[in-house]
Amino acid sequence: MTQHHIDWTALRSAALAVAKNAYAPYSKFNVGAAALVDDGRIITGCNVENASYGMALCAECGVISELIRSGGGRLVAVCTVGNGQPVTPCGRCRQLLWEHGGADMLLEVNGVPRRLNEMLPNAFPDESVFVAQNIGNKK
Ligand code: THU
Repeated sequence: MTQHHIDWTALRSAALAVAKNAYAPYSKFNVGAAALVDDGRIITGCNVENASYGMALCAECGVISELIRSGGGRLVAVCTVGNGQPVTPCGRCRQLLWEHGGADMLLEVNGVPRRLNEMLPNAFPDESVFVAQNIGNKK
């Protein structure tokens, strides 16, 4: 796997900046997420809530949309913050990140980079399914 220099400070700054755009009038929890893509670009997303509470879109959903919108690629590292503090992505978002980052993607958890494999053990689908079906937006 290609080694990438991960500037966690830059990722955190980008996450903090985009959190200002969050639409979170219901929870008042403004979340921002920033990701390093394998081509070096940094992409971001913020949470977007809805009057039908359960339909809230997490900040990481925005990151995934932005990844695809801006040309795809593989996620290398992700940092999420909420109301200025570190946030560990919810289970659904770990699954979304898995699709585009896989086992080796790094997630900042309370300031410590952890492999996604550790944060979503025995995830579906396993790497053999990714390879067999050629999914996961590999480029
Ligand atoms: N939220 C995120 O954006 N990302 C997470 O990883 C956890 C939760 C949002 C969803 C909702 O808008 C608010 O935080 C409160 O749960």
